[in-house]
Amino acid sequence: MTPRAANSNRGPLNRTSGERDATQPRTPDQPEPFARNATTSGKAGEAELSTARELGAEELRALVAKSLDRARERSTLLTDAVDDEDLVRQHSKLMSPLVWDLAHIGNQEELWLVRDVGGREPVRIDIDELYDAFQHPRADRPQLPLLNPTEARAYVREVRDKVYDVLSGARFEGRRLTENAFAFGMIVQHEQQHDETMLATHQLRVGAPVLHAPEPPPAAPVATPEVLVPAGEFTMGTATEPWALDNERTAHQVHVDAFFIDTVPVTNGAYFEFIAAGGYDDPRWWSEAGWAHRVEAKLEAPRFWARDGDRWVRTRFGVVEPVPADEPVVHVCFYEAQAFAAWAGKRLPTEAEWEKAARFDPASGRSRRFPWGDEDPTPEHANLGQRHLRPAPAGAYPRGASALGVRQLIGDVWEWTASDFLPYPGFAMFPYPEYSEVFFGPDYKVLRGGSFGTDESVARATFRNWDYPIRRQIFAGFRCARDAHPEELG
Ligand SMILES: [Fe+2]
Repeated sequence: MTPRAANSNRGPLNRTSGERDATQPRTPDQPEPFARNATTSGKAGEAELSTARELGAEELRALVAKSLDRARERSTLLTDAVDDEDLVRQHSKLMSPLVWDLAHIGNQEELWLVRDVGGREPVRIDIDELYDAFQHPRADRPQLPLLNPTEARAYVREVRDKVYDVLSGARFEGRRLTENAFAFGMIVQHEQQHDETMLATHQLRVGAPVLHAPEPPPAAPVATPEVLVPAGEFTMGTATEPWALDNERTAHQVHVDAFFIDTVPVTNGAYFEFIAAGGYDDPRWWSEAGWAHRVEAKLEAPRFWARDGDRWVRTRFGVVEPVPADEPVVHVCFYEAQAFAAWAGKRLPTEAEWEKAARFDPASGRSRRFPWGDEDPTPEHANLGQRHLRPAPAGAYPRGASALGVRQLIGDVWEWTASDFLPYPGFAMFPYPEYSEVFFGPDYKVLRGGSFGTDESVARATFRNWDYPIRRQIFAGFRCARDAHPEELG
């Protein structure tokens, strides 16, 4: 196969949905070892605090195995939760049948880890074309001669067995693709991104609930509704995260003027007020494109909401329930987020503002891996990994606050930003153009921070997601920002 242009029919989140699907792995560049321990050359790298320490080969092997297992456990849960008929059905034109996602996960793993890294014979070269996301728009996938559920399960198992064998003898050096086990990390992230897409398919599915999870933790009081982020440069992007993808690279200095950002994401309760104030009926709050879409798509509330007398109810993974006022709003498109912000006298943060609020530590002047610091996420830091099947109430996870005191930046809901998806200065495509490069431009808006359905392997504070501004099936909400006026700076 050769790389193909993106089909405009597919949205990216779908990076959570398969839109970054590898075609033929391209010959990797010369090895370019990842810098670690904040020892990257240049000012930007030095200002990026990183504890992405260098792991020995055995530590890397253990990390990869654990991460692959966690991803597969989740894929299995999501596909075993429904019967075969449900697995082959298309629950929405926006989504693939779950059985396509499953075999596609296996096919990508085969292409990169069995054939390329492992140099092994193909397992099923005959199905590559069926599972190439750039060849078949989602809407067409149910009509393809796909592997049936039994075959798909056997296929992913066979591929995974070979991958464990490749992993046992892998040397994590010599090629950029294998330095720090990058290709393994890329495949872990790919599976987890498809798992989030499959979770979104579950949300679109009609029928009795099949997924269950405990409730998230309660809110803790926040000191102020907004946080001031001081003016100045900070380090955006990363040169030190071994498994960071090409679009997150490299670390560079960005000046951001002083601004205020909401301490927590916008809640359903605040969104009720926007609706009650006629926000959906007043073109003043909407951009031209946003208003045109709002009229054409007849938007009048977040997706999955319905009126029940004088209150709102929603359907969440098959459960119909009153919309909780204290929870971050989810399933709104970029245009709705933009309109709410205008109505509130604010705006959406730019991507740089979001990342500065999340990573900048004023005490050291450095950028952290996560808002709370450099340690990997724990259940006390953030609502990730489908541990709970809903966002936590606004104000939850005080231990996950950023140095500046902003909460819930990671997990709960993806956050729409005002920014188009564009390359950072010095962007270098790796390892294939369909991962990021073909999506750069004004068609896509950047989302940050991950949702309750995002795995920790794709929730670092530099991770960039993107989607069309009309998309609502993803677990996306937002928070607002505003310029800081001189008299507010003391
Ligand atoms: Fe994919």
